[in-house]
Amino acid sequence: MADILVTWFSRSGSTERLARALAQRLGADAEPILASGSYAGATGFVRGVWQSLQRRMPPVRSGADPGPYRLVVVGAPVWAGRPAAPVRSYLRQHGPRIQGLAAFCVSGSGAAYDGVFDDMAELAGRRPIATLSLAQRQVLADEADAAIEGFAARLHEAGAAAA
Ligand SMILES: Cc1cc2nc3c(=O)[nH]c(=O)nc-3n(C[C@H](O)[C@H](O)[C@H](O)COP(=O)(O)O)c2cc1C
Repeated sequence: MADILVTWFSRSGSTERLARALAQRLGADAEPILASGSYAGATGFVRGVWQSLQRRMPPVRSGADPGPYRLVVVGAPVWAGRPAAPVRSYLRQHGPRIQGLAAFCVSGSGAAYDGVFDDMAELAGRRPIATLSLAQRQVLADEADAAIEGFAARLHEAGAAAA
């Protein structure tokens, strides 16, 4: 078992793609957060927006225990300017057992969504030591290498990851 965990929720695969690249770069374990409900199709999209606007925390089917890890890197798609609802649920449920937190998000626009990381910090009960925001198109075009290196370097400076 590694001492860093990368965990994420992904509806359409881009957050997962970035998560797996980060896990590989950091030599971390990689475990998805799986939602209980479906977010497929237009109905799922609307449900996602609504849950985000309402700050809902729907049940999640699975998520790794962060307790044994000294750093947990949590990834979320941006939904209505906030972290996707299943990530909210995971952080609320497991936040107290997180020893060190870093966070990343993927959005359609690539804008800096401070609300995403503010919400994640509040739910986890601690600020992330480093954050990373990318646009979906950057991730899908494999244009995230420099950003991943920068993120890993910030974690290293914070004493949380190998160079
Ligand atoms: C319910 C929902 C709400 C979204 N809201 C935003 C948003 O507020 N701003 C934005 O830039 N992208 C928004 N998006 C786009 C996603 O953030 C983007 O497609 C992201 O890459 C999806 O990650 P995934 O492929 O891991 O599911 C939204 C997507 C969904 C499904």
